[in-house]
Amino acid sequence: MLFSHSILAAALTALAAASPIADTHSLHEKRSQVPPQWQKRDVLDRRAILPMKIGLTQSNLDQGWDWLKEVSHPSSAKYGKHWSPKQIAHAFAPSDESVDAVKAWLASAGVSEHRIKQSQSLSWLEFDATVDEAEALLKTTYNVYEHEETGQPHVACEEYSVPSHLKEHVDMVYPTVHFDAKVKPRDLSSDLSKRERDPGVYKGVGKPGSGSLPKGGWHIGHHHGHKLEEELATCDEYITPDCLRALYEFPINHRADRKNSYGIVEYTPQSYVPSDLDMFFANFSRKAVGERPILDSIDGGVVQQTNMSFGFNGESDLDLEYAMTLVYPQKVTLYQVGDLVEGASFNNFLDAIDGSYCTYEGGDDPSQDAIYPDPYTNYTGAYEGPENCGGYSATKVISTSYGYNEHDLTPFYERRQCHEYLKLGLMGVSVLYSSGDYGVAGNGGQCIDGPGIDAPYNNGTSGRFNPSFPATCPYVTAVGATQVKPNTNIVDALASGTQPEEACETVIYSGGGFSNVFALPDYQADAVHEWFDNYPPPYGADRFNNSMQTRGFPDISANGANYVVAVDGTFSLVFGTSASSPTLGSILTLINQARLTRGKSSVGFINPVAYEHPEVFNDITEGGNQGCGTPGFESAPGWDPVTGLGTPNYPKMLKLWLRMG
Ligand SMILES: *[C@@H]1O[C@H](CO)[C@@H](O)[C@H](O)[C@H]1NC(C)=O
Ligand SMILES: *[C@@H]1O[C@H](CO)[C@@H](O)[C@H](O)[C@H]1NC(C)=O
Ligand SMILES: *[C@@H]1O[C@H](CO)[C@@H](O)[C@H](O)[C@H]1NC(C)=O
Ligand SMILES: *[C@@H]1O[C@H](CO)[C@@H](O)[C@H](O)[C@H]1NC(C)=O
Ligand SMILES: *[C@@H]1O[C@H](CO)[C@@H](O)[C@H](O)[C@H]1NC(C)=O
Repeated sequence: MLFSHSILAAALTALAAASPIADTHSLHEKRSQVPPQWQKRDVLDRRAILPMKIGLTQSNLDQGWDWLKEVSHPSSAKYGKHWSPKQIAHAFAPSDESVDAVKAWLASAGVSEHRIKQSQSLSWLEFDATVDEAEALLKTTYNVYEHEETGQPHVACEEYSVPSHLKEHVDMVYPTVHFDAKVKPRDLSSDLSKRERDPGVYKGVGKPGSGSLPKGGWHIGHHHGHKLEEELATCDEYITPDCLRALYEFPINHRADRKNSYGIVEYTPQSYVPSDLDMFFANFSRKAVGERPILDSIDGGVVQQTNMSFGFNGESDLDLEYAMTLVYPQKVTLYQVGDLVEGASFNNFLDAIDGSYCTYEGGDDPSQDAIYPDPYTNYTGAYEGPENCGGYSATKVISTSYGYNEHDLTPFYERRQCHEYLKLGLMGVSVLYSSGDYGVAGNGGQCIDGPGIDAPYNNGTSGRFNPSFPATCPYVTAVGATQVKPNTNIVDALASGTQPEEACETVIYSGGGFSNVFALPDYQADAVHEWFDNYPPPYGADRFNNSMQTRGFPDISANGANYVVAVDGTFSLVFGTSASSPTLGSILTLINQARLTRGKSSVGFINPVAYEHPEVFNDITEGGNQGCGTPGFESAPGWDPVTGLGTPNYPKMLKLWLRMG
């Protein structure tokens, strides 16, 4: 969909002020302007036949959270009884009432039942209509538009109406105001150079330099000795797998389980370097030398080896070296998403693991998501195969170290995607996202200059806080970053019962704060209210939504500073919540292994359990997440919008989750 519901709402308000439309139709969607590069040409040839598609509203979305709670809340009798994809499709399919009401309307306009086909996903009614029929049904006029550069035609209208009593049953109608035609550019070089001039045009999240990638890349010549004791004595300067095992008290794994799985998502052109994996394994996981992730290539996803630098390899090398080491010999699945030309977005990935998401609520947004088959066909690396809709299965834990600012996307787009995470939770998948690396500011340190969803960004020294998405979706687990306190020996600290960690304030600051889009979920309501009561922040509504009614993040944190990572043939120090998320994902994968071995299900959506049992996390109480010209929020006892509930304590987490369902 090309525009947000808020624009539609504005259109409706404007309409309400004007004279009411005749008969019982009411305006359903309206576009305020034709997208750039499209010109209105002619009225449509009356003999044309239009392939009409009516998207029906999904039912039961408001029930979704109750269902997810049933399978993920510790006190529920149905804890762990996850759903199959088929059960999910049925539960959210449009109601019979919607199908019947829309069919009755079509019949009354002369489109009889036998001309109508219901899609397999159950959410679309499809039929061919003459222009007269379509215009009468929707009280609109169709025109032909032409693409300036390619001459490609597209049939569209500027607004359309449906009978008022059907408003709640009809989600959208195609073709109408949408311009998601797959444009075949004539001159790709000019198109691509435009993308390079205006990075905003290119929306792939894997673009080098995009703010959610990890920071650092400073080479470290040689590391301290090989003895474990010596290694652990320097965890304040060099984080290694053994440091993480010591901090969170989890063991070297020795088992692989066929039922278990762990997925890491990477967005092209980000890619791992095979020799980097071996270089890392040779030092930190000898038996894993030669191991590679299972590659699930989505929409032409390639592990490119042409562009080699920290900006292209740092993220994937970091994620895979740590995830593969910490869960070895358990295999790790690499979802590599997008081709070399367009890259991809989270929606492209979600389409691949759930075919019904490709069309759900109108499908992808071509202004945000990559289009496949790639229309940029004569550019090297364009993927010309079909879009991946389904066909890949979701692993039990999925960790993603990329993110947007909530402010970059429309609330409609975000809610649609967030519902999909709810469905993954119902299926027993733990979805982890890093919470961002700029404290209360957004990617690259941007802050929002004033209220409203259209407010511009400023240079980051003032303005409103800029929360990160999908971290603010209440159905994902948002992972923040900690660091070992400088000059701290973690072995001594742990032995004396002193917390060796604090919020990360080296190079990066843990992303955290409160959503401007998503309501406060009930599982964290007490924790968030307690924090506001006990540690009232010194900022007002001009800085963030302080209503105490919106989602707070992160949920949990893990170390995100000084990771020793092999990148492009040298060891570097790397920083970011990009490191924290795969580390937490590895620990959950070990817990899943223990549960699966005992015939239990995966841990699935962990937040309801986590907030009921904060005692299984190491509370982090020091450090802040500065940004937007402020010190940001402060860590504090209990949940806080810097480090969430704290870092993992594996023995306690394991004991808790083995007790459950
Ligand atoms: C990796 O191992 C080599 C050879 O034992 C050693 O010289 C080097 O310092 C190690 N590098 C790191 C980062 O531990
Ligand atoms: C990536 O490599 C290709 C081929 O060498 C080159 O044309 C392109 O400019 C490189 N891209 C970047 C961003 O360095
Ligand atoms: C794409 O094709 C056009 C027409 O054949 C050609 O002029 C242009 O140079 C090509 N662009 C690239 C990047 O190959
Ligand atoms: C950022 O913007 C503020 C307010 O407009 C200005 O005072 C400040 O000098 C700017 N800082 C930088 C580094 O550009
Ligand atoms: C803050 O969130 C609440 C709850 O969603 C909402 O009602 C309110 O309008 C928001 N405040 C601002 C300033 O956006």
